[in-house]
Amino acid sequence: MSEIARVLKTFIGYLKRPDLYPELGRKIIKNIFKRNSAFKGKEKTNLWASQVAVSQENAIRKLFNLDFQLFSEKYPQEFQKALEKQNNCPIKMGGAGALELLYSACEFTQAKAVIETGVAYGWSSFATLTSLQKRNGTLYSSDMPYLGQNGDQYVGCIVPEDLKTNWKLFRHADRESLPKILKESGEIDVIHYDSDKSYEGMRWGYETLYPRLRKGGVFISDDINDNSAFQDFCERENIATTVVEYEGKYIGVFVK
Ligand SMILES: C[S@@+](CC[C@H](N)C(=O)[O-])C[C@H]1O[C@@H](n2cnc3c(N)ncnc32)[C@H](O)[C@@H]1O
Repeated sequence: MSEIARVLKTFIGYLKRPDLYPELGRKIIKNIFKRNSAFKGKEKTNLWASQVAVSQENAIRKLFNLDFQLFSEKYPQEFQKALEKQNNCPIKMGGAGALELLYSACEFTQAKAVIETGVAYGWSSFATLTSLQKRNGTLYSSDMPYLGQNGDQYVGCIVPEDLKTNWKLFRHADRESLPKILKESGEIDVIHYDSDKSYEGMRWGYETLYPRLRKGGVFISDDINDNSAFQDFCERENIATTVVEYEGKYIGVFVK
């Protein structure tokens, strides 16, 4: 699909969803006035991250004092079924991330309440819910689907049915979803940020979510290498963060 066709399809997708008009307005303003701000500080952060990064395995041991085990080996049947669902899904979205880090963060905190931004197929939701279900906890997720691919109905499609009773999925842009989520949730044990990767989007997301994370809770952000939003946030808040290198990208993780 050409770039123009993709933009047009996304625009038509937005027009069909009046509840996403606020995000459409923000995107138009961003694309006209702040085109380059998405990558602000990228070079600085990549240099820093490459100097301090550790493996997922090391981070799990150091931060949570837990042994590393592949999620796919711990839950082989469930994982296989999810993989089949992904393969049968007619649209393409972002695949599985560092599931072990997320699952271990939930086990470490004995999580009862987790917020995640960004769902796509639902791999991170699947790993989080697998831990949360043991304590009948709740996962609050925010996702604005891939509008260019008519992907609305497939958001979270790989999440096993029996885990869905512990899941509240808010299907709007974060700026609409997160205030609603924070209104109905209390203190949060784990926060996983994995949605809007623009500098402003990340900064807003971190500043909105962080105050609600309980002391001893775990904060995880994917793709911190896209710009310096995560590094700048940690410096402002005086947070000593761990950086995990995962499949050529960097993930930020710290215990509050
Ligand atoms: C990388 S994927 C999430 C992957 C998922 N966390 C996982 O590990 O399996 C990012 C998702 O964030 C969504 N997204 C992007 N910008 C958003 C926004 N402003 N508000 C809500 N969701 C957004 C995308 O539609 C996409 O589904």
